Amino acid sequence: MPPAGPGAPADIVAAMEENPQPPDLKADDHPSRRYQERLLRDPGDHEAWQGLRRSYDRMAEDWREWTEDQHGYDLAVCEGLRRVRPAEWAVEICCGTGEATAAIAGAVPAVVACDLSLEMLRRRVDVPGVRWVAADVRSLPLGTGRVPLVVSLNGVFHPTEIVRVIRPGGQLLWCTSFRSGTPLYVPPERMHRLLGEGWTAEGGHAGHGEWTLFTAPGA
Ligand SMILES: C[S@@+](CC[C@H](N)C(=O)[O-])C[C@H]1O[C@@H](n2cnc3c(N)ncnc32)[C@H](O)[C@@H]1O
Repeated sequence: MPPAGPGAPADIVAAMEENPQPPDLKADDHPSRRYQERLLRDPGDHEAWQGLRRSYDRMAEDWREWTEDQHGYDLAVCEGLRRVRPAEWAVEICCGTGEATAAIAGAVPAVVACDLSLEMLRRRVDVPGVRWVAADVRSLPLGTGRVPLVVSLNGVFHPTEIVRVIRPGGQLLWCTSFRSGTPLYVPPERMHRLLGEGWTAEGGHAGHGEWTLFTAPGA
């Protein structure tokens, strides 16, 4: 890992000192990576959606305990949030048990946190003021072109629905905890292409993670 560098925020420096190596999740060969790849090629691949759903339901019981052991797990979200435009509210997708939700709620006045897995949501952390919703990234219960900011940490990337719900000039902050070592990782350039014409992107690293801030056309 490269040094944090002068001027790096104290939380990033501390996390890098505490946790010099990211976990080896065998991401290239991970079932989640294979499912994500199948869904990018064919968003109608029902079996892949089901596979993902089942695997995260199974992991829910131990999820929180594992993520809490990963120092700096949400650093990329914290760093990316420093770059977003002011937004009145945000939607977090694939929130799990709320690993990034407190950071988002600390930066945006109102947050709707969504995940498909009731097993994950049942074990969520308590974050005041957050509305928790069971929702599939394929059909978010949100109006078209309404959302100023969508955020996800280690989420399932399904561009069609993201593009539908984000308002003109709205933003998508996509983060991973372990860059390409994250099972659901999709390279930012590929996400950028899949979002379509007119989107802009900037990004960076924080701790072991990566953030990419996409801005929709029509600002
Ligand atoms: C890798 S976990 C990330 C959880 C949390 N954000 C974190 O970083 O620890 C992926 C999450 O996506 C959720 N998920 C899987 N398929 C989904 C779908 N079709 N719609 C919404 N969420 C889904 C899982 O339940 C799981 O909580």
